[in-house]
Amino acid sequence: MPSLEGQIALVTGSSSGIGSAVAKCIAEAGAKLIVNYSRSSKGADAVVEEIKAKGGEAIALQADVSQEDQVQAMFAKIYEAYGTIDILVNNAGLQRDFNLVDMSLADWNKVIGVNLTGQFLCSREAVKEFLRRGVVPERSVAAGKIICMSSVHEVIPWAGHCNYAASKGGVSLLMKSMAQELAPQKIRINSIAPGAIQTPINKEAWETPEALESLLTLIPYKRIGVPEDIGKAAVWLASDDSDYVQGTTIFVDGGMTLYPGFESGG
Ligand code: BGC
Repeated sequence: MPSLEGQIALVTGSSSGIGSAVAKCIAEAGAKLIVNYSRSSKGADAVVEEIKAKGGEAIALQADVSQEDQVQAMFAKIYEAYGTIDILVNNAGLQRDFNLVDMSLADWNKVIGVNLTGQFLCSREAVKEFLRRGVVPERSVAAGKIICMSSVHEVIPWAGHCNYAASKGGVSLLMKSMAQELAPQKIRINSIAPGAIQTPINKEAWETPEALESLLTLIPYKRIGVPEDIGKAAVWLASDDSDYVQGTTIFVDGGMTLYPGFESGG
């Protein structure tokens, strides 16, 4: 595992699911962790305790990433605790699934607010600090790294999930535009697009043998992903081992984006 020794990392929405695995993997690589949560301090505290039990350092901080004042207050607390930030993982995300005609404006705004606006607000604060501080060669050859948690649905349309797919399509060009703008300042920005990863967000898709069997027809590699699949990719993208990787999306999806229907058809 590449080293992230001495670096400070914020993982938004890391009290459960993919975020908690990303936080734990990054902590294992030596970074000090800020475990952000919106509602469940219990989940966040458990992740902090797990990191500490393995000899790492972590604190839990509350903020709803869709709220500008809460994001700014969280970054102020990060600087009080650790002085700076080196790695931001824009992970916080949610689903509010409805067919188009049944989708309320509130359900649309909630998903866009957390999944897309939240990534903008956190990136803006982190980039301000990366630009202020610049490169610290003992820690990394880059001035800062941002990983945007996207989804296979940044490219795969998803009936019944217009708000979610639109948010992830937005993340794709937010990430690329930020990466283009900030590359000259040695700020690296990339995305991870997970496929079906076994977490609470998609429980319905794997909780019964029938659901799992149907899900596996969409995955050429024929297994559901585990959160650590994403955690390992995040450590690499945050590390100097990926220093020449800029503005790209790494699909960690067992081949879900390979048009699985064409395994036999066409
Ligand atoms: C969604 C999951 C879904 C997966 C594959 C993810 O982005 O959050 O609910 O299972 O994409 O469709």
